[in-house]
Amino acid sequence: MGLSSNFPVAGLLIGFSLLACLYINHLSSHADRLVMSVRDEQNVNRAHELFHTRVSNPPKPQNDSRSVSHTKKYQKAVVPRVSECTMAVESRFDCARDRVLSQGECEERGCCYSPLNDSTGPPWCFYPRLYPGYKMGPLTPTARGQAATLTRASPSYLPRDISTLSLEVIEEARGCLHFTLKDPTSQRYEVPLPGGIPQSKVDTQDVLYTTEYQSNPFGFIVRRKSNGRVIVNTTVAPLLFADQYLQLSTSLASSFVSGLGEHYTSLRLDLNWTSLTLWNRDMAPHANANLYGSHPFYIVQEEDGFAHGVFLLNSNAIEVMLQPTPALTWVSTGGILDLFIFLGPDPQSVIRQYLQIIGYPMMPPYWSLGFHLCRWGYTTSNTTRKVAQHMHNASFPMDVQWNDLDYADKQRVFTFDPWRFGDLPEMVEEFHKRGMKYILILDPGISSTSLPGTYTPFDDGLKRDVFIKNATGHILIGKVWPGPTAFPDFTNPETRQWWEDCIRDFHSKVPVDGLWIDMNEPANFVQGSVEGCPGSDVENPPYTPKVVGGQLNSGTLCMSAQQKLSIHYNLHNLYGLTEAYATHSALIKIRRKRPFVLSRSSFPGIGRYSAVWTGDIRSDWEQLRFSIPAVLRFGLFGVPLVGADICGFGGDTTEELCVRWMQLGAFYPFMRNHNDRLNAPQEPYVFGQKAQEAMRSALNLRYSLLPFLYTLFHHAHTSADTVARPLFMEFPADPNCQTIDRQFLWGSSLLISPVLEQGAEELAAYLPPSTWYSLHNGQPFYSVGQYLLLSAPLDTINVHVREGHIIPQQVPALTTSASRANPFFLTVALSAGGWAWGDLFWDDGDSLDTFEMQNYCYVIFMAGQSQIVSNPLKLNGALDGLVLGWLQVFGVPSPPRYVLANGEKVSDFTYRTDTKVLTVTNLALPMSEAFTVQWALSR
Ligand code: NOJ
Repeated sequence: MGLSSNFPVAGLLIGFSLLACLYINHLSSHADRLVMSVRDEQNVNRAHELFHTRVSNPPKPQNDSRSVSHTKKYQKAVVPRVSECTMAVESRFDCARDRVLSQGECEERGCCYSPLNDSTGPPWCFYPRLYPGYKMGPLTPTARGQAATLTRASPSYLPRDISTLSLEVIEEARGCLHFTLKDPTSQRYEVPLPGGIPQSKVDTQDVLYTTEYQSNPFGFIVRRKSNGRVIVNTTVAPLLFADQYLQLSTSLASSFVSGLGEHYTSLRLDLNWTSLTLWNRDMAPHANANLYGSHPFYIVQEEDGFAHGVFLLNSNAIEVMLQPTPALTWVSTGGILDLFIFLGPDPQSVIRQYLQIIGYPMMPPYWSLGFHLCRWGYTTSNTTRKVAQHMHNASFPMDVQWNDLDYADKQRVFTFDPWRFGDLPEMVEEFHKRGMKYILILDPGISSTSLPGTYTPFDDGLKRDVFIKNATGHILIGKVWPGPTAFPDFTNPETRQWWEDCIRDFHSKVPVDGLWIDMNEPANFVQGSVEGCPGSDVENPPYTPKVVGGQLNSGTLCMSAQQKLSIHYNLHNLYGLTEAYATHSALIKIRRKRPFVLSRSSFPGIGRYSAVWTGDIRSDWEQLRFSIPAVLRFGLFGVPLVGADICGFGGDTTEELCVRWMQLGAFYPFMRNHNDRLNAPQEPYVFGQKAQEAMRSALNLRYSLLPFLYTLFHHAHTSADTVARPLFMEFPADPNCQTIDRQFLWGSSLLISPVLEQGAEELAAYLPPSTWYSLHNGQPFYSVGQYLLLSAPLDTINVHVREGHIIPQQVPALTTSASRANPFFLTVALSAGGWAWGDLFWDDGDSLDTFEMQNYCYVIFMAGQSQIVSNPLKLNGALDGLVLGWLQVFGVPSPPRYVLANGEKVSDFTYRTDTKVLTVTNLALPMSEAFTVQWALSR
């Protein structure tokens, strides 16, 4: 699906650019060390090669054990003067990041040594103010921006130091500046993002930044042009660039930093000498661990509501050190330094600029926004059928029934167990007849020990040479659920074709509607391979970031394993992304409908192809609470279709926890209840009547809101808007919103305030300055930006509608195929002045590229002056036969004397004087035509 460069905040941007024009360049006080940049006026043509073009000519992996050593003994440095070492402890940058150093070794590096009481905080061995590094040559214009050569007089203390670097500075777009630093003499590994990086045209007239360079030692400063604020300043610590160790530090403009997933943290990251490793790993979420995905992107909230973001496009193992200066240090074990800086100026623009680089998210099928039910342990097709039947009998809305590995014959993917799941194809057909969908799990590991001729995926894969090889060129064998397994290399186009053929063949028997790609970090139950891994610099790099298991090959493949595009050392973090790309493409070709893929592992750009879930979380209250920042962060990473396993995956849930989780889960963009094998059951129907009632009402609430949620996904797909949205994105100038991650928004208008504590029946919720109406009864809260104590008995999740917004809804049903035919209704939340606005994107919910092919309906709704009008801006027939059945208007000041619908008097309306809610029922206004509902207020 294509990318779009819609700018709904164009007005805001124009405002900021006017401000920017007024800015007078006040820089260069340290003029002798700084060279101002000269912007090149030419358009940018990013020459990142496309995924498929790279394949025919793969770059030589520079990081394998055979690579040429650059090592020269670095010259002994002089011990720095005391004055060079006198600085506040929080301003120290670690000079012994790569290994622990004695005082003598530290000083041998020319660094300062000053021990402290605490060894976990500021470093004891740190860089002096001036530390030798690269010297920058003159900046010269290039086709894409500017370039310079950096050289260092003597090598750094790192093995295989690279003494000459080329710097290129590219203006990617108005708010986006791009720096690359690489070795000009040998081609190093660069990230082959599937589909490449979109090229944009830059109007260089009104860029939002200025740049300055420090020539010796080299560093650069990026400022926000409108106010001079330093956004990035790499002069704070030395740049290091060796074959397997790249390091770049920068100051931070504030201590409100979010991103850098995937980790188990709050939304605002802790800068108190913490480190975050980005290395995809099969690991149940817990603190201080690298988890399933890697997203080297952060967003910083500046003081005044502005924001910026930074993305390091690098797929090697990365460690990010955060310190209270505030500052941050990137360390990567390979590749190049490919740094994008997004100037916003507001948080939502930062995300849009980031997604212009990595790709806008896919448009999900409508049904995938319904409820999904899964567990490991539905051991037969009959058990699976019964689960779906119980859900139906108990009137719980549900769209998708899932199976975990239970279905597979000896846990081998692309097979199904002839005894326990012999009638799997029939079962799927039955679900389809009832308007439901079916998804099953697919692990990448292909069993390698079946008798030849008995397991086609392996036999065929062998013939077609699709598997990852070890360092000696033999197929690498690891161990996953089916025992010994080979791992497909999804960077190889032949593998993607083979994968498509396997899916096509399986789909012809079992017509699945989507695929769940698990274990794709890739996970391996033995370290590296069944034969271990060879000793080499890639298995044991000079510096290994802090990873679970201690080594890069812990729980995964050997780093020396060979893939088409490079060695696994470089490509590891891309495994899930490349599998998601292959699976998404295969499903499009096979089903000719909108694909649904759910992936555990992730990397920037995966939102184009897949949904993501947050892995094996425990059934406890803490994990319930941390699921919110986890979901919100994926929104910042361009993966809006995300959720956590509702009621928890590991351990037994309790009834109360599961009710609260179903309520919160009703507002995860992707809603799935999933459970591990031996745990207490947690399907909604297993609980007591009160709990079931609460869960049913949460599900019905979600289903009623699906037209609104789908419209939000349309805006995510076409404009890179976030769906589940942190409060700071919407209220960037409100300091109270900077850290809130126990509440969140859907789009800009629904505020969700779940209960996250055991036993709680009320909660303190923050309402940003506005009038907020309870979605349940329209009761208004006039907030000046304050915490309110809200009642939240077990059957209630608090949801508030922001004044000025209209929410399109639909009468819920047990599936979306049924609910999509039901009457629509509108919830209208009037502003103090009596105005409101909303919209609806509608299509058949399942066809490919409906937006791109102009095959959709788009209707806007406006309220003002005691009336609501609809305006269908685009119609393709999808709304034909559908009607508006009723509406509720919040904030109507006095009882209406009468109500007119399309000019005709309506008798079915009520008005509540206590809540000031007008409800008009029994309407049947065609959605595909403009309509008007008016009310006359009593004088
Ligand atoms: C690990 C996944 O994270 C989990 O969701 C799944 O149930 C198991 N693998 C078994 O397939």
